[in-house]
Amino acid sequence: MGASSARRSRIVAWGLSAFVVAVPLAWFTPAHASTLPPYQTGRRNAGTPNSSVVVKKHGVVTSYGDSAITYRAPSPALAALGQALYLQNCASCHGTEANGVPAAGTTGAYPNLVGLGPATIDFWIESGRMPAADPRSVQAPRRTPRLTHDQALAVAAWINSLSPSYPYIPTVNLKDANVANGAALFALNCAACHTIEGDGDALARSTFAPSLRNIPATQVAEAIRTGPGNMPRFTGNLSDYQVADIVKYVTTEIQHPRNPGGFGLGGLGPVAEGFVGLLLGVGLLALVGFWVGERQ
Ligand code: HEC
Ligand code: HEC
Repeated sequence: MGASSARRSRIVAWGLSAFVVAVPLAWFTPAHASTLPPYQTGRRNAGTPNSSVVVKKHGVVTSYGDSAITYRAPSPALAALGQALYLQNCASCHGTEANGVPAAGTTGAYPNLVGLGPATIDFWIESGRMPAADPRSVQAPRRTPRLTHDQALAVAAWINSLSPSYPYIPTVNLKDANVANGAALFALNCAACHTIEGDGDALARSTFAPSLRNIPATQVAEAIRTGPGNMPRFTGNLSDYQVADIVKYVTTEIQHPRNPGGFGLGGLGPVAEGFVGLLLGVGLLALVGFWVGERQ
């Protein structure tokens, strides 16, 4: 083999392996990033009344939000009923003043509920986590709710009357939300714990990130804004528009996958991901090999 043909085959080999690396890289580069609408990325719209529309009654904020999410306070008129329900269903663990019970001796410790905001109280009741079945549970599981929707609102109204706080209870405008943006944001912010398929996974110390199938939109938004248990609370880093996009993705694509039982080649199923990973890995190894060879 002459010197020039050796150089030519080396150039071909470099070119091939660069191509093999470039294809999967291009696949994952957010090529459509430039087409995303201009989201607000500041601390506004973080589930607090920084939003564009704030409605007050007698000087008290009753609702706030924008065209993506409206947050509403449960009616203060429900507070008396809420206190009665609270004393029946919650006080035995969280105390008659809702300010919790500190860890002492052999009795359990129960979190302080004052100042948590109506969305937090509503989420824990409507997801069936509270009232807890097991007083010693570290991560109370989701189950059939023990209280109705109206009863949950009433308990939230009473606890909120002790010390008014945010966020209020969200209503998500799914109609105008963008499911493709939601998918990208989900991959970035949620998939690490809940997996890209939304099936959930084990976390440290025998806690787990649950499956996200069949969770109502309001509860998905509440979870994002309030961060139950070991889940982080997403506030300023996600605008209401982004939260609405994620909620749409979770309540449509994850709950009604378009390819039940199979792998959608357009989606990032485990097989497709593995395949892309293999291509990328082999390409990188080839590059390293050529680089080592070149230096000799
Ligand atoms: C049998 C005891 C028990 C009862 C009854 C109970 N809880 Fe709890 N609650 C707990 C325990 C234990 C935790 C902590 C477990 C966890 O984080 O999963 C908790 C956690 C919570 C949290 C989360 C607090 C935080 O800071 O994250 C909320 C909110 C809550 N309870 C509300 C209620 C409400 C409202 C009721 C009544 C409808 C209620 N609980 C009834 C035991 C109880
Ligand atoms: C660090 C891990 C982690 C990340 C990141 C995370 N979550 Fe969670 N998520 C959890 C855990 C843990 C729970 C269960 C909390 C509990 O029950 O105490 C949870 C609960 C939920 C629930 C309630 C499900 C149910 O069973 O009622 C929803 C909905 C949810 N997460 C959505 C999301 C979304 C959407 C994102 C991204 C914006 C996200 N999570 C990011 C760990 C995480």
